[in-house]
Amino acid sequence: MRFEELICYPKFSKEEFEKRYAELKSLGIEELVEGGKTIILGYKILGKGTTSIVIKAIYKGKIAALKIRRTDSNRESMYEEAKILEMLKDKKIAPELFTYSKNFIVMEYLEGKNIEEFIVNANASECSKIIKKLLEHCILLDKLGIDHGDLSNASDHVIVYDDEVRIIDFESASLNRKPQNFTSIISYLFLSKKTFSNKLLEVYKLSTKEVLEIAREYKKGNLEPIMLLFRRLENYSC
Ligand SMILES: Nc1ncnc2c1ncn2[C@@H]1O[C@H](COP(=O)(O)OP(=O)(O)OP(=O)(O)O)[C@@H](O)[C@H]1O
Ligand SMILES: [Mg+2]
Repeated sequence: MRFEELICYPKFSKEEFEKRYAELKSLGIEELVEGGKTIILGYKILGKGTTSIVIKAIYKGKIAALKIRRTDSNRESMYEEAKILEMLKDKKIAPELFTYSKNFIVMEYLEGKNIEEFIVNANASECSKIIKKLLEHCILLDKLGIDHGDLSNASDHVIVYDDEVRIIDFESASLNRKPQNFTSIISYLFLSKKTFSNKLLEVYKLSTKEVLEIAREYKKGNLEPIMLLFRRLENYSC
């Protein structure tokens, strides 16, 4: 029963299960794989939110992340989130979208650390590379007109692995709001007043005032302070 309950979480019904099972088969999902830090129904999964759950799965013979719309979700479908992931294909900002349907998104599985854990444990050189890439991702999202919507608390939404960083969970994203990705991430990274953000201010010898100035100038379209910040990241990377 567990597989049936997982794909129809939290409220199982035979009718819904049959629809969802057919959907999964037509997408090419072969099986679910246990793993992750969250436990539901006694089964380890990658994560649980208010509108979806995310489980490892086998897609075309390889591990993928399967995002499943909860049966009690206030979203009609996964189409909006899939549309954004489609726009971001090949841009190396988000997990690669493999396929999707009304109730599921199948995407690249990213095995890594969340950004907060990464910063606390990384040296200046590793931090510089990742932070520069993350800021560039956010500038590009702003240019594309995509507002992620949940980056002011990015701990659950940014995954770091090897030399790469990806933004996940575009469930709250919108193409109709003024994008605030860069200003949200910069205040999250440097002004959160937590161990990781204090470490960054210290390593890069930045003051709160300077960070606010960078954000203010960015809003006016002046990218010069960001270039200076990038140079500072490079200088403190060895
Ligand atoms: N592509 C992925 N690769 C690896 N882990 C992932 C991936 N996508 C999501 N996860 C893990 O699952 C967790 C939940 O994912 P996500 O934030 O997208 O969905 P959610 O919060 O369950 O749903 P929602 O916010 O849409 O209600 C993440 O915090 C992350 O740990
Ligand atoms: Mg979420």
